[in-house]
Amino acid sequence: MTIQDSAPPPPPRRVYGRRQNRPLNASRSQAIEELLPRLSLEAECINNAPASLDPKTLFCTPMTRFSLEIGFGSGERMATLLPQNPDIGYLGAEPFINGMAAFLKSIYEEKPDNIRVLMDDAMLLVHALKDECLDDIYILNPDPWPKKRHHKRRIVSQANLDEFARTLKPGGKLIMTTDVPDLAEWMVTQTTLHPSFRWTAKNAQEWKNPPTGWVPTRYETKGAKGAESMVYLLFKRT
Ligand SMILES: C[S@@+](CC[C@H](N)C(=O)[O-])C[C@H]1O[C@@H](n2cnc3c(N)ncnc32)[C@H](O)[C@@H]1O
Repeated sequence: MTIQDSAPPPPPRRVYGRRQNRPLNASRSQAIEELLPRLSLEAECINNAPASLDPKTLFCTPMTRFSLEIGFGSGERMATLLPQNPDIGYLGAEPFINGMAAFLKSIYEEKPDNIRVLMDDAMLLVHALKDECLDDIYILNPDPWPKKRHHKRRIVSQANLDEFARTLKPGGKLIMTTDVPDLAEWMVTQTTLHPSFRWTAKNAQEWKNPPTGWVPTRYETKGAKGAESMVYLLFKRT
């Protein structure tokens, strides 16, 4: 479906952090130039009416599951999982060009086809997706925005949780991590308040330790300073 005159406008773009720091080296520039046009979801996010994009239409082969990662940084987790799960369609959003370039360089040789990316605000992609099409959504170490006046910038908000609930299949999972205690509390409070999500943890061990088979992200590995306070929050879409 394409945008009709009567369709509501797309949501405003909300990217608050930096989108580039140092210039890209030659191999990262090459990865962006060659792979981004092939894998980018920008046109789909612009041309599709809200809530109409079916991830099944994005891949050349049939996929059994669809997984979204929001703010994937350099994408180590997806780069590890892509070749292991050729039947899972991965969607990733990361507005920071240095992170996107590092990720595309890491998959440059293998060029897996079960990944599509958006170099922009992840919510543009979430709003474009149709209802109940995702099996899981990962939000790993999002920017904490510690100042109270910036809390509205946090990616976990009631408005965004409405959209995560809409796009997740019933029983689908919302998985969030952080090593910032104030943000952890915020995530738990916001998500348990939302009527469509249920926290799966039965005891502290379940949120203090990574789930089985967990692939750590760069922030998680590098941020060893916060490793002790890292939490792994798994919510189920009811
Ligand atoms: C602290 S980093 C964590 C990166 C990665 N998830 C990890 O654990 O290594 C937060 C990431 O979220 C990205 N980000 C910020 N706002 C975003 C948005 N609106 N949509 C998607 N990603 C966003 C940032 O560019 C940054 O790469």
